Order: sequence, then structure tokens, then C-alpha cells
Amino acid sequence: MLIFLDTANLDEIKQGIEWGIVDGVTTNPTLIAKEGADFETRIKEICEIVQGPVSAEVISLKFDEMVEEARRLAAIDEHVVVKIPMTPDGIKAVKVLSAEGIKTNVTLVFSPNQALIAAKAGATYVSPFIGRIDDNGNDGVRLLEEIMQIYANYGFDTQVIAASVRHPMHVVQAAMIGVDIATVPFDVLKKMFNHPLTDVGIKRFLEDWEKYKQLRK
Ligand code: E4P
Repeated sequence: MLIFLDTANLDEIKQGIEWGIVDGVTTNPTLIAKEGADFETRIKEICEIVQGPVSAEVISLKFDEMVEEARRLAAIDEHVVVKIPMTPDGIKAVKVLSAEGIKTNVTLVFSPNQALIAAKAGATYVSPFIGRIDDNGNDGVRLLEEIMQIYANYGFDTQVIAASVRHPMHVVQAAMIGVDIATVPFDVLKKMFNHPLTDVGIKRFLEDWEKYKQLRK
């Protein structure tokens, strides 16, 4: 399973890369705005650190404008994946962009039919927002299962990104289903390291080692 970081914060990305467990990054307008950075500059900076897929989202909603914006974003760096919202204009743009070899990530996906449409248009990635589905009283993980089943039935190449991940258990559930990628906020990535018994175990080993050293004196 690939792990992407869902952030536009350079320190978080550098840390994830240093740990050696981050394969890519996803951003969105909210995440870039939070950093107060210039959009294209920040995407370039992220690409230089990551050297893997970096999703940058278009702001336009009309087909022509979306395609033009996507081409501009794709020209920033070879690692840019253009995030396109799940709308009829967006899907039309995905079809054109995939024919041009521009990688796309269809975002704001909340149903199996939306994922089916994205795959038919030739999207490189599809991003079901599982946390927002849970927030709304439904089952985000169930949606992942449905999409994985549909893609397997027809051999679609589109890779599934579990997005809007809220906690480490979401990552486990996505991995159990065999979802290709989970894009996780930095605090969720940090929590994935943790287990109280690991801390207890380290403490006990060190205490025992100290006792042994005292005995040997
Ligand atoms: C995915 O690519 C999105 O950036 C992200 O996962 C949205 O998550 P949110 O629901 O936490 O905003």
C-alpha cells in the first residue's frame, strides 16, 4: 500500500520523507490556503522534496478553463497529478487530459457510480472521501469496498486513494480491503507509529539494562 501525506506543509512532508514511508502528497485549496503560500511555488517545492505523485487541484469549474489550468499545473513538474472535481465538466476534462498523458486525480467522490465514471474517463486516481461520508452518518469504508469490487470486476487501472482519512483505523480498514493508497494527515501518520505496549516495553528494557549495569560494577 502506498502512503501519501494530505498536507501542503513542507516540514511535515520533509519529516515523512525522512522516515522513508511517504510515497506522495495530496493537496487541496484549503490545505494550500492554510499555509498562506503561493500556490504554484508551493507545489514546485513539494515536488522537489517528494519525487513522487503530488496532487494539485484546479480551481476552475468550466471545461475549457479546467483543461487550460490543468495543463499549466502539469507543466510545473513531472510529478504533478491534476486534481479535478467530480462533475460532468471535470470528467470531460479528465478524458482530454488522460489522452494527453496528464495524470489526474478525480476528487470529491462520494458514491460508487462517481468512481465508475472517473475510471471510464481514464482517471489515474480516484479519491473517495471516507471521513466526510462517516461525518454524514454513512459508511466510508463500505464505499471503498464497493469501488474496489467494481474496479476488479472490469479490470480498471484507476488507482483508489482513501481520502479524508480521520484516524489510524481508517488506514487499517483501507489496507485490509487492498485499497492502493491512503492519503493521511500528518497527525494520523504520527499516530500510526504508536502503541502503549511499545513505550512500556522500551522503558522496561532500559530499566533492566540499567539494573544489570549496576550489578556488573
Ligand atoms: C484528498 O485528497 C483531500 O485533500 C482530503 O483528504 C480531504 O479531507 P478532509 O475531509 O479532511 O478535508
